[in-house]
Amino acid sequence: MSFVAAKPYRRRLLLLLLRRRTGATDFSPTCPRRCPYASSSNAPIAAADPSYFSRIFRPANPAWGIRLFSTSVDQFSGGDKNLERIFIQNMTVKPVVIDGLAVEEGSEAAAVGSKEEKEEIADDKISGLEQTEQPEVGEVKEESEVDKEAWRLLNKAVVSYCGRPIGTVAANDVTTAANQALNYDQVFIRDFVPSAIAFLLKGESEIVRNFLLHTLQLQSWEKTVDCYSPGQGLMPASFKVRTLPLDGSNEAFEEVLDPDFGESAIGRVAPVDSGLWWIILLRAYGKITGDYALQERVDVQTGIRLIMNLCLSDGFDMFPSLLVTDGSCMIDRRMGIHGHPLEIQALFYSALRCSREMITIDDGSKNLVRAINNRLSALSFHIREYYWVDMKKINEIYRYKTEEYSYNAINKFNIYPEQIPSWLVDWIPEKGGYLIGNLQPAHMDFRFFSLGNFWAITSSLATQRQAEGILNLIEDKWDDLVGHMPLKICYPALEYEEWRIITGSDPKNTRGTHNSSSMIYFSCHLNMIDLLTTNVESMVFLQRICYWLFDLTKCHFFLSPWSYHNGGSWPTLLWQFTLACIKMGRRELAQKAVAVAEKRLPNDRWPEYYDTRTGRFIGKQSRLYQTWSIAGFLASKMLLENPAAAAVLTCDEDIELLEACACGLSKNARIKCSRLAAKSQIVS
Ligand code: GLC
Repeated sequence: MSFVAAKPYRRRLLLLLLRRRTGATDFSPTCPRRCPYASSSNAPIAAADPSYFSRIFRPANPAWGIRLFSTSVDQFSGGDKNLERIFIQNMTVKPVVIDGLAVEEGSEAAAVGSKEEKEEIADDKISGLEQTEQPEVGEVKEESEVDKEAWRLLNKAVVSYCGRPIGTVAANDVTTAANQALNYDQVFIRDFVPSAIAFLLKGESEIVRNFLLHTLQLQSWEKTVDCYSPGQGLMPASFKVRTLPLDGSNEAFEEVLDPDFGESAIGRVAPVDSGLWWIILLRAYGKITGDYALQERVDVQTGIRLIMNLCLSDGFDMFPSLLVTDGSCMIDRRMGIHGHPLEIQALFYSALRCSREMITIDDGSKNLVRAINNRLSALSFHIREYYWVDMKKINEIYRYKTEEYSYNAINKFNIYPEQIPSWLVDWIPEKGGYLIGNLQPAHMDFRFFSLGNFWAITSSLATQRQAEGILNLIEDKWDDLVGHMPLKICYPALEYEEWRIITGSDPKNTRGTHNSSSMIYFSCHLNMIDLLTTNVESMVFLQRICYWLFDLTKCHFFLSPWSYHNGGSWPTLLWQFTLACIKMGRRELAQKAVAVAEKRLPNDRWPEYYDTRTGRFIGKQSRLYQTWSIAGFLASKMLLENPAAAAVLTCDEDIELLEACACGLSKNARIKCSRLAAKSQIVS
């Protein structure tokens, strides 16, 4: 069978077999009914051969010269896309830092024995908790009826592949017709994370291990949209297990994993967050189970490096934040989050921290680790300095001078103060603040996005003061952000023209039932009122105004936003909020939110999201029995019962990162390092 003539899934298999021949992996994505299943003891032979790694990751050729100041990994492939080469930057770089430990380059400690040290350090890093508390995994606690029901539903959502658990389906909504399942019958990478945490805390690690290894296989899948392939290392948004007849047989079948990288998703967006979640979960799996052998496997190390290379590759960007298209994360539809959305930056930072901890340090990887350190340092400065807003900062922006053309500009991104939205003027509390949703030249997206803010706390992307400020703000704005159901995906919702322009008139991202004629009707009324206010002469007109106003409110009702991604309330965000609260020693806040959710979720049949300003209604198009709502609730409760376990997902402040500045500009140079001036703000 020729490669070209092969069926698509066969072609994928051939590609994977080719990859296997390089020794980079030992899992097959297709699985004949009686296929031998690769077990944990089945580590690749290559892993035992120390020279093997250098064969896969050839060291950079010094003759290529050195690029100044780049913190990225070069994508030179020399004809082989798998084998990216990594440059060392010509800059003053601190010794390789592994989770707070300074290790001299080339020292033995850098190459060997690092795992024990990492474990030791991790043990000390259960922040916000008494050091005596230890994670208790698999301890059977008294379960409430709601918990039992949630576990029953979560177990029902488990998807098997070759007879083994491999993930959980996005929704098991029996009330939705099969043809309306869309892609909710698939295993989503991001959706599986809370399921994984719940299973791991319960002591059930097999499903997570299988998930990690099989999704790793999908990384090398053939993926194209109209003959264009995205970069290698991309993880799919979701996958489905399909049963297909074996060639020429009606009796024999094989199971095949069919991933979606965005080729068939609505909007065709690459899921940037998938690989980042995969890395975060891989670290958590190691920390909870102690099975570090998994992350040390050659194929797993290759997977981490491919993701990192993809994220660290050079582009035209001037910022250390990751540049992405709209809808590349949990919000996977157009919502004005293209560019540098906070959610991606927070997950990126977290994944960089986790990768640095997991990458086996050798000659082939030390440049990658250095690039990771440089990026971490620049990224944390950038977000802390430019994304943070509180009362003081907004007042500063309000008085900004614009069009400053110099290295010393205060208003670096040329933000026009008129951009400060009217809702924010009253909303920003005296105490507390938050990280804004996005930052671009002349554009600050002041919306509050929950996931990005929570993950900035969890990963220590935010400073201690900022993290406290975010939780203070949530407490202060409880009715807006929690209300009748935790938690708002973003605040506030986009309305009217903004909604039309930014979402592209997406009906799912409003409350729902409007159509274009109601829009025309609505704008006609607006125009008439405009006209009449300048020409109110008779009672007839006044009567009409009353009538129009009445109609206008009706119309507004149908156009009401606060739905789905546009200001909807998502119960799944509960576990991420819980993590942030535990890290900051504010468990009571999370407990309060869990109590709000517990009252409604089981009765409402575990919806995907809620609508209206305070989350009173079950979302118009919401799935029921949404797995990550169930798993998020369970994970929150388990983390609250066992707060020490939060440390498997959190990272602590790394002071060395803040001090290391990759640009190497001295104080006396013509161009000064702008970070030096602002340092007090980023470490406080
Ligand atoms: C929706 C959400 C996305 C989620 C998927 C499956 O598309 O926007 O974040 O992963 O549903 O639940």
